Amino acid sequence: MKSQIERIQEKALGEIAAAESVSTLNEIRTRVFGRSGYFVLLNRLLREMPKEKRPFFGRLLGDLRQMVSTSLERRKSFLGKEGKQAVIGDLDLTLPGTASEYGAAHPLTCLLNHAVAILRRMGFSCTTGPDIETEWRCFDALNTPSDHPARNEKNTFYLQDGRLLRTHTSTMQIRTMERQFPPVRVFGSGAAYRRDEVNATHLIQFHQLEGLYISKDVTLADLKGTIAFFFRELFGQEAEIRFRPHFFPFTVPSYEIDVRATMVGNGWLELAGCGMIDPAVFEAVSTKRGDQAYSQETVSGFAFGIGLERLTMALNGIADIRLLMENDIRFLSQFR
Ligand code: DAH
Repeated sequence: MKSQIERIQEKALGEIAAAESVSTLNEIRTRVFGRSGYFVLLNRLLREMPKEKRPFFGRLLGDLRQMVSTSLERRKSFLGKEGKQAVIGDLDLTLPGTASEYGAAHPLTCLLNHAVAILRRMGFSCTTGPDIETEWRCFDALNTPSDHPARNEKNTFYLQDGRLLRTHTSTMQIRTMERQFPPVRVFGSGAAYRRDEVNATHLIQFHQLEGLYISKDVTLADLKGTIAFFFRELFGQEAEIRFRPHFFPFTVPSYEIDVRATMVGNGWLELAGCGMIDPAVFEAVSTKRGDQAYSQETVSGFAFGIGLERLTMALNGIADIRLLMENDIRFLSQFR
């Protein structure tokens, strides 16, 4: 039996080494381990042997099984690698590839870039501020009393440490005055957050573009001229601009700005808030700074805040504000 095992081993290993395909290997496997293969036969012989000889031949059989199955696996993985190389060898590098899709700027970004370019031409430079702000910068310094509804937890996202998600970008006005000497002529843009119910016209996160101009002898005429120039550059020279008296705690007098232009339909669109900086704001900043750089005796200024979503919707005929946030490629690819 020993020589029989040796012969089978020699034959099987020789065939495996010579095999050129996985299917040949499978045939060999069946011949050795299959239902009517060598192993079944040898096992039967083993059982017929005298008891004392069985361990020795059992071990020989075990070794054979081990050796044949290992070399079957080795040869199989070798043939697999060769197979892959053969496929790469067939690769035709001159065939046209699969084109990848081009991205494009989001319609909000397009509007912002356009608006910022106009402000820069008027000498405004960029300022920034974080989305997470102190209550002082978002409300107190902007002359918003502690019982103002905007400060309620129902309307504003508060963090556990007392800070909040800014409800408007006017916080950047305070940041700018805290660290810069007048004159300042800056814009800042970014997200603002309010606890609204999300629907076709409201999101809990939206975007604003804020402007601030402080210098000597800045008047309401400067504010109106700047705003009118800005919107006429944006919507065309025939755009009509209306300043509707309003109230904001941080400006006096305050206005809402309505615009009517063919580019944005025929009706009046409420697009921004603005006004002359309230003396109380200068006072809060002066106390914080500990100097008189922003004393209302020496400086005056105006500020404005433009909501970007509504403007983007009007410009592009978008009916639902949620589309601007959903990141749906079918929607976004229309703006390429
Ligand atoms: N912060 C106001 C808002 O969120 C908009 C605004 C109004 C900004 C008047 C200003 C301003 O800078 O002067 O509705």
